[in-house]
Amino acid sequence: MITLVPLLLSHQPAIDSLLDERFGPARRNRTAYRLRDRAEVLSAYSSVAFDGDQLVGSLQCWPIRLKSVGGARMPMILLGPVAVAAAREGQGIATALMRASLAALDAGDSPPVLLIGDAPFYGRFGFSAAATRHWELPGPVDHARLLLRGPATGLPRIAWVEAVPVERAGSVNPSRPAKVA
Ligand SMILES: CC(C)(COP(=O)(O)OP(=O)(O)OC[C@H]1O[C@@H](n2cnc3c(N)ncnc32)[C@H](O)[C@@H]1OP(=O)(O)O)[C@@H](O)C(=O)NCCC(=O)NCCS
Repeated sequence: MITLVPLLLSHQPAIDSLLDERFGPARRNRTAYRLRDRAEVLSAYSSVAFDGDQLVGSLQCWPIRLKSVGGARMPMILLGPVAVAAAREGQGIATALMRASLAALDAGDSPPVLLIGDAPFYGRFGFSAAATRHWELPGPVDHARLLLRGPATGLPRIAWVEAVPVERAGSVNPSRPAKVA
């Protein structure tokens, strides 16, 4: 049975192993890492999946900001990476992780959610590249993969996506209660 639990700091080594397995060590060169490298993971919106004592999936969320041409900054959430152990693919684990995070985000009345990923997968959760064509990131991005959840009402057409680094490393936000898939 797969169990989803809120992300804890102690899960990080197993998450890193999973991400290395699924994305390779070069994952750290990706533009998304420039947004989350020095940010603090939002544990209230992040989950991991366990099969017994084995971590088989993870989804992390991070604070970011959108800066308009006029300099106004608005908070956003960067969702990802989402990863599931190769041996456990196709069993609904990523879907369960996504549903848990999106439910927590909705319950928390969160800012808009952005991710970099495959539209055919994330489209089913309400993500689309329609509004992001003129948004720049701190590195190269395929705009067809820069996906916003929901309508872009009130968001600028031209904007810069920025990191929200924390000076204080190693802390994790309060967790939400455990959920079972
Ligand atoms: C993508 C990933 C997270 C999916 O995990 P999973 O637990 O197998 O996903 P689920 O079982 O919940 O969902 C499987 C469904 O998603 C679809 N799917 C999976 N990856 C997809 C992709 N890249 N594009 C389109 N559809 C995809 C499957 O075809 C399947 O569709 P179905 O429900 O219609 O049969 C997993 O394959 C993985 O970790 N891949 C490597 C890392 C990665 O690419 N992460 C996503 C970043 S974009």
